[in-house]
Amino acid sequence: MSIADTLDVQDIDLGDLELWEDGPPYAIFARLRREAPVHWSPFASRPDETGFWSITRAADVRQISMDWQTFSSERGGVAVLDDIGIPVEMQRQQMISMDPPRHDRVKALFQKAFTPKRIAEHEAMIRQITRHAIDTLAARGSGDLVSDVGAVVTARVIGSLLGTPENLDSKLIEWANIGLAWDDTDLRKEWGQMGEMLAEAAPILHELISERRSRPSADLLSALAQAEVDGDKFDDVELLMMFGLLLSAGTDSTKSVYTSGMHALIERPEQMEWMAVAPERIPSAVEEILRCFPAFAHFRRTANRDVEMHGETIRAGDKVLLWFVSSNRDETIYEDPERFDVRRPVVEHQAFGAGGRHFCLGAPLARLELKVLFEETISRLHEFELVDKPKRTRGMFLNQFKSLPVRFKSK
Ligand code: HEM
Repeated sequence: MSIADTLDVQDIDLGDLELWEDGPPYAIFARLRREAPVHWSPFASRPDETGFWSITRAADVRQISMDWQTFSSERGGVAVLDDIGIPVEMQRQQMISMDPPRHDRVKALFQKAFTPKRIAEHEAMIRQITRHAIDTLAARGSGDLVSDVGAVVTARVIGSLLGTPENLDSKLIEWANIGLAWDDTDLRKEWGQMGEMLAEAAPILHELISERRSRPSADLLSALAQAEVDGDKFDDVELLMMFGLLLSAGTDSTKSVYTSGMHALIERPEQMEWMAVAPERIPSAVEEILRCFPAFAHFRRTANRDVEMHGETIRAGDKVLLWFVSSNRDETIYEDPERFDVRRPVVEHQAFGAGGRHFCLGAPLARLELKVLFEETISRLHEFELVDKPKRTRGMFLNQFKSLPVRFKSK
């Protein structure tokens, strides 16, 4: 019998990071979907923080995602922690932590650059960056798919779109890790590192922005420098926070899905082969990879009023977590939901959110990057073996490996 069956459902505390050592506790989520679809975790490991409600069924995650009037992204931000190292007032400068109408106006500034059609124009650039990483790796015969491929490719792609110079890429990777990996002391060494990181990034960014103000080009930094909301240009803090969102949402996520997908495929070589013999299968395989391994385990909302759901009362001000790692395995939607199988017919999933205002801005970019990453990896390399146990990033927000050391042969 596993811990998922022995615990009383009321005693489950999803904030207990021991449950997350080997990745999301899927058996516990299955029980919550069945027995307690609106479930309270006291978050005893963080006595400085209040507990949270967990929403685990796909239909409920969707309903809450659509209802921004009741479930706010702005009131408490989108992280389970009230204290992520920067004040909530600063977090609210990012569109992900805004409610309409300001959210809609800010998002509209970026939307045009992120349509599937506009993003498709970048395919050659993405392929060139990916090939360079795979060439370098192939020449060595072994390496770490997180640091040698996932991190460097996603940093250079977002760097190219933003318009940051290549010599800043290693900083972009470091900043994204510090910004998001709160519970992992390999990636954010100490809590105060967030403040140091912002102090380091701010002058670099402001220099780049002032360059773009005098000499605008087609990149996103120029768009940020020129953008106006309600007649006002963004101030320095707003620019820094917006840059931080595009950087962290745009790199860490795609890196995680690529490496989780590669890990699952290395364990199931027949599925990798199924993709390799007919690369046109890769886009639908990517959707199954996203379903099984969403990069962000959850996002938070905060209730604006008291709400009754499935017999529980969520009070105004309570934290409510939308668990994509659970909703994507909801047995009322997927047959045999825990089974990873890229041969499934095309699946819908909530890895990019469940609809509503905050649906991932970068979904078309992420899908294209993942398609190219898998195409280039699988067409060039095969017979992968793990050379060491992969290491997971500690925590219950990032669903990712921090290292995936492999050996392989070139085709
Ligand atoms: C596989 C990769 C990715 C995954 C799994 C992912 C997932 C998500 C999720 C779950 C949300 C929140 C949805 C919600 O709360 O309803 C989100 C929002 C967002 N994502 Fe992504 N994302 C990915 C890649 C990207 C990329 C490449 C970018 C590039 C810029 C990006 C930019 C954003 C932004 C700006 C938001 C906030 C949108 C808003 O508040 O309206 N994401 N993403």
